[in-house]
Amino acid sequence: MTLSTSYLTLFLPLLVLVVVLSEARIINNYGRPRLGETFYEEIRELLRQRLDEIENEVSVFEEEQPPRPEENPTWHGPESLGQISGVAVDRNGRPVIFHRGHHTWEYSTFNASYHYQELTRGPILQNTVLTLDPVTGEVIEGWGKSLFYMPHGLHIDVYGNVWLTDVALHQVFKFRRNARNPSLVLGQRFQPGSDSAHFCQPTTVAVAPAGEIIVADGYCNSRIMVFNAAGGLLEVIPQPGEFLSLQVPHGLALLPELDVVCIADRENMRVTCPNVGLKRSRTRSPPLTIQQPDLGRVFGVASYGNYIYAVNGPTSPMIPVRGFTLDPRTERVVDHWSPLSSKFTQPHAIAVCPNETALYVVEIEPNKVWKFDLIRPDSKK
Ligand SMILES: *[C@@H]1O[C@H](CO)[C@@H](O)[C@H](O)[C@H]1NC(C)=O
Ligand SMILES: *[C@@H]1O[C@H](CO)[C@@H](O)[C@H](O)[C@H]1NC(C)=O
Repeated sequence: MTLSTSYLTLFLPLLVLVVVLSEARIINNYGRPRLGETFYEEIRELLRQRLDEIENEVSVFEEEQPPRPEENPTWHGPESLGQISGVAVDRNGRPVIFHRGHHTWEYSTFNASYHYQELTRGPILQNTVLTLDPVTGEVIEGWGKSLFYMPHGLHIDVYGNVWLTDVALHQVFKFRRNARNPSLVLGQRFQPGSDSAHFCQPTTVAVAPAGEIIVADGYCNSRIMVFNAAGGLLEVIPQPGEFLSLQVPHGLALLPELDVVCIADRENMRVTCPNVGLKRSRTRSPPLTIQQPDLGRVFGVASYGNYIYAVNGPTSPMIPVRGFTLDPRTERVVDHWSPLSSKFTQPHAIAVCPNETALYVVEIEPNKVWKFDLIRPDSKK
């Protein structure tokens, strides 16, 4: 409303001037025909049209402001879990987390060729995949014991399939909803590699609505691999000579409308969003990229329409650990946000609820799950 009011204050004097001039026949003195009712009617019509346009511009503008995350003050996530590396939200709006139980990732966990060194410890014996109550934060159910060695990424696709990555196994797993055995396994068990049949510490997965599987591979290969729904390789990104160089792709978020995948390109301290050819053939033009000095090492990304919510991790004392709202279209940071009760220490992943009312952030040491309500600009008290 303020915008249209200011337009009116600009426009009305002009209209009055036109009316006064024509009434005084000053305009006619310059040889133009006498201005009749039709002229005023046209002016009024133009004015009405312009006001309608302004109203529309204002409402589009307001609609497009992404909600601001605010820590939910009553939420209490579960305590005494292992390192929480992954988070997603299921189709019923319940947060699901992936944690490492009694395993922790230490300097000695992998050797120089990325082979897991703690096989003798066996798999994690606790339930590693936990579903939480979205209101209270209590654990509702758990599964995934004796399967995983070093959990990392978690994604739930639009059909409710659960996708997990394990950096010790160097594999990606698909579990159908409520299934306890994987229906698809990509990568070779405990075998790091860089060819098309291997991963090396894959960080996470995102699955497109049409079924393409996008794997962030990972700590050592720093590449993105796109598979069809059956697990057949479609693309490896970047291709040699391509104008995109990743350094530890650590998080993924699909933006279907823009036909891009946004990558938390951790060690490059940026979010970069290449087209990976989901809707049409892949373009190799430079991707939309958000890179600002305060972004630091970006660990996790989640999409909200055409926006991205992101969390960074410890980078340098000059760069606060916090949340960011990013607009890939303008390649800008549009907002910063943080918890209220205390500070982030090492956020590792982030996920937005399907009904877009909340987001969750998980942290490693302290092992913590945060809930943030997404507060729309117009719903603010
Ligand atoms: C969104 O989902 C959450 C979790 O299921 C639920 O508690 C909440 O009522 C939903 N809100 C709306 C507006 O649908
Ligand atoms: C790492 O360990 C694996 C077995 O776990 C071994 O085959 C490999 O040679 C080791 N690599 C290095 C660089 O020591």
